[in-house]
Amino acid sequence: MLYEKIQEAISFIRTKTDDTPTVGIILGTGLGSLADRIKVSSKIRYNDIPNFPTSTVESHSGELIFGELAGKKIVAMSGRVHYYEGYSMKEVTFPVRVMKFLGIDTIIISNAAGSTNADIKEGEIVFVKDHINLQPENPLRGYNDERIGPRFPDMKNAYTPALIQLAQKVGTEKGIKFHEGVYLGLQGPNLETPAEYNYIHTIGADLVGMSTIPEVLVAKHMDLKIFVISVVSNQCFPIEQITQTTIEEVIEVVGKASPKMISVVEGMLGIL
Ligand code: HPA
Repeated sequence: MLYEKIQEAISFIRTKTDDTPTVGIILGTGLGSLADRIKVSSKIRYNDIPNFPTSTVESHSGELIFGELAGKKIVAMSGRVHYYEGYSMKEVTFPVRVMKFLGIDTIIISNAAGSTNADIKEGEIVFVKDHINLQPENPLRGYNDERIGPRFPDMKNAYTPALIQLAQKVGTEKGIKFHEGVYLGLQGPNLETPAEYNYIHTIGADLVGMSTIPEVLVAKHMDLKIFVISVVSNQCFPIEQITQTTIEEVIEVVGKASPKMISVVEGMLGIL
């Protein structure tokens, strides 16, 4: 049972730290180097935590980092798993469940995405205001434990408007250009065909990616406040703009945008 699995993970973590973080951060693409800025109190490897998704292929499976960032007590996930790697949606989202039961009330998530909005360019950052879920399998499917959340969670304002406003304030004050947009999630791992990018644009999405939505569904199920920040790694609309994307280019684009993302998140934490 999910509730018991969460408690098992919590019990183990509580043998290592009695920290009480209020904000959880998933250090996805663009925020990875935020890990170096945390005043660390403890680190726990995913491999050691009961029921955490573990990876046998990577030498470094990921870790939960407890500490302080911009004066705020936080817990950060350094390393995350994706549905396209073969994990179930329940496995992908289990760490979010655990962070909630550690006491967080807010979650911050970053990702890289393709842009299907001609006005949102490569290297720019986007505060996600809503999503379209086209991923198969839902982490909330199956038995619902009311101790964790409701059977039919509402999705209006899943992306907490007050957090978006805060991000806008921070971005404006720091002179950082930003957009707001709708994120569409697909399972990947392939990128999309031109016809698919066109379709994604047509149905109302500004961004497309392969992560984040499962974590948001689970976070909203547990009534967390949610903030998602994306970096555009490739321009996908209009379709003439699509170029063959190499991983090297993506890393370069994201590397340039990363300081902007870090600056926004730290600015928000300082005020929260
Ligand atoms: N499609 C899907 N996921 C992505 C993309 C994309 O173009 N870019 C970065 N993540």
